Amino acid sequence: MRRGLTAYGDEEFSLFLRKAFIKAMGYTEDALERPIVGITNTYSGFNACHRTVPELIEAVKRGVMLAGGLPIEFPTITLHESFSYPTSMYLRNLMSIDTEEMIRAQPVDAVVLIGGCDKTVPALLMGAASANVPAIMLVTGPMITADHHGERLGACTDCRRFWARFRAGEIDQQEIDAVNAKLAPSAGTCMVMGTASTMALCTEALGMMLPGGACTPAVMSERMRHAEASGARAVAMAKERLTPDRIMTPDAFENALRVLLAIGGSTNAIVHLTAMAGRLGIAVDLDGFDRMGRKTPVLVDLKPTGQHYMEDLEKAGGLPTILRELKPLMKLNALTVTGKTLGRNLAAAPAGWKQNVVRPFSNPIFKGGSIAVLHGNLAPGGAIIKQAAMDQRLTRHEGRAVVFESLEDLADRIDDPKLDVNEDDVLVMKQAGPKGAPGMPESGYLPIPKKLAQKGVKDMVRISDARMSGTAFGSIVLHVTPESAAGGPLALVKNGDRIRLDVPARKLELLVSDAELKARRKAWKPPRARKEDARGYRKLFLDTVTQADRGCDFDFLAQPGTIRVPKA
Ligand code: FES
Repeated sequence: MRRGLTAYGDEEFSLFLRKAFIKAMGYTEDALERPIVGITNTYSGFNACHRTVPELIEAVKRGVMLAGGLPIEFPTITLHESFSYPTSMYLRNLMSIDTEEMIRAQPVDAVVLIGGCDKTVPALLMGAASANVPAIMLVTGPMITADHHGERLGACTDCRRFWARFRAGEIDQQEIDAVNAKLAPSAGTCMVMGTASTMALCTEALGMMLPGGACTPAVMSERMRHAEASGARAVAMAKERLTPDRIMTPDAFENALRVLLAIGGSTNAIVHLTAMAGRLGIAVDLDGFDRMGRKTPVLVDLKPTGQHYMEDLEKAGGLPTILRELKPLMKLNALTVTGKTLGRNLAAAPAGWKQNVVRPFSNPIFKGGSIAVLHGNLAPGGAIIKQAAMDQRLTRHEGRAVVFESLEDLADRIDDPKLDVNEDDVLVMKQAGPKGAPGMPESGYLPIPKKLAQKGVKDMVRISDARMSGTAFGSIVLHVTPESAAGGPLALVKNGDRIRLDVPARKLELLVSDAELKARRKAWKPPRARKEDARGYRKLFLDTVTQADRGCDFDFLAQPGTIRVPKA
């Protein structure tokens, strides 16, 4: 109760007043003397991924009280992908600030962070890392799958697949409406290897979640038992002062990055892990990440690169099954929320069994790393491509640029029958980076122009400074840095330029002479400021957001530091 007293200039009076008000909640002195475990309430009527948060809170409270603590829930912002205008990434840092300051403002000895949807897990962990109060992550868990005409369905790889079929005229309005009602059939997060599943698995590998917590579906009773155990463990962490900086170490981040590669995870996770590490003065080295990728095969057979869903990974044993295969590459001495190392947790996990979701290291789904880091005159600060989820015939490709100046331009012209485009062209989109859009939306998955889709074209090389949903598939170059709105070379690309992509050589080149690029740069004008850019959160965002290679965090939130992950 003495932690973080309101400043009245008399500490004893501040405590006296605090106790008077908290007693109005009905607590006894005995209750108030227990370790206080805060619980973030991220429920919202707009967030179906967090639909079960109220019952999870009850289970966490039970665990806290059984362990002798006092649970107190408090609200934070919540973010759902479809209800976060202009994009959830724009609001991630706001949620992290809210989380950090509420943890700091209230007298909590430990906190249980309840999240699940894509941006909520990184935002909560970024905030908790900065507040540095003992913290444990509890995810809401994935949805279960549904069925359409005998075919298994799930959000949101199948959302895109069916939408592409609808655009191509293969299915009619009635069928797409029927599919729409089945894509998200239960509470929980998207059940493919999208950002939510990726962040859940990376968080467990990072050591910030109790073992086995990443994969259990939201609607299973086991999820409630896990919540109860998380509450109980939070009480012990409060007593042990097991703070995030002791767990979220360089070795722990290397473990999370390794798992990201092995699960064929969402490209968004690189940005989030970079932002989380930045809060602790740790810098993720993209080239080092690429080197890790060359030694880390994709082992998990989940959509969008494979065939299964998260409930199948749960039945296959979840993260421990993956870690057993990766064991020689993992930093097993990294400490976790259990108070034990990752290696000891793994040794205590049930033995593996015969399953077909996680492949053995010797027989992977994809040999190279799932994500490759590209450099070249088009992306001096780097760009990424999910090479495991693209048409392998396009890994070495040269084509003519078809340029869209913004998201609006793309929407206006992509389906124009008069658009001059063929399947060997390279689609380029500008103005979709952190500052440009703003908020770096998941618009890097440029649709195949309708007239080509109708001819059966399924994949093309697409390049932008945007992000992409982890549930998408395609030859899609993302996170081009620096972004076009900041004057990166992407801003200089013109219709008809030749672009060369060479994924094996990690190259992305604009085949235009240096002299011509110099002339174009001289003539380039930054995009005109919008009226709404001048005030409020929008102004703070535009003034301080960093580029993708620094996690798109605000520059004043990251902690300066020079520790690099992975080590050279
Ligand atoms: Fe929340 Fe996909 S929309 S996890």
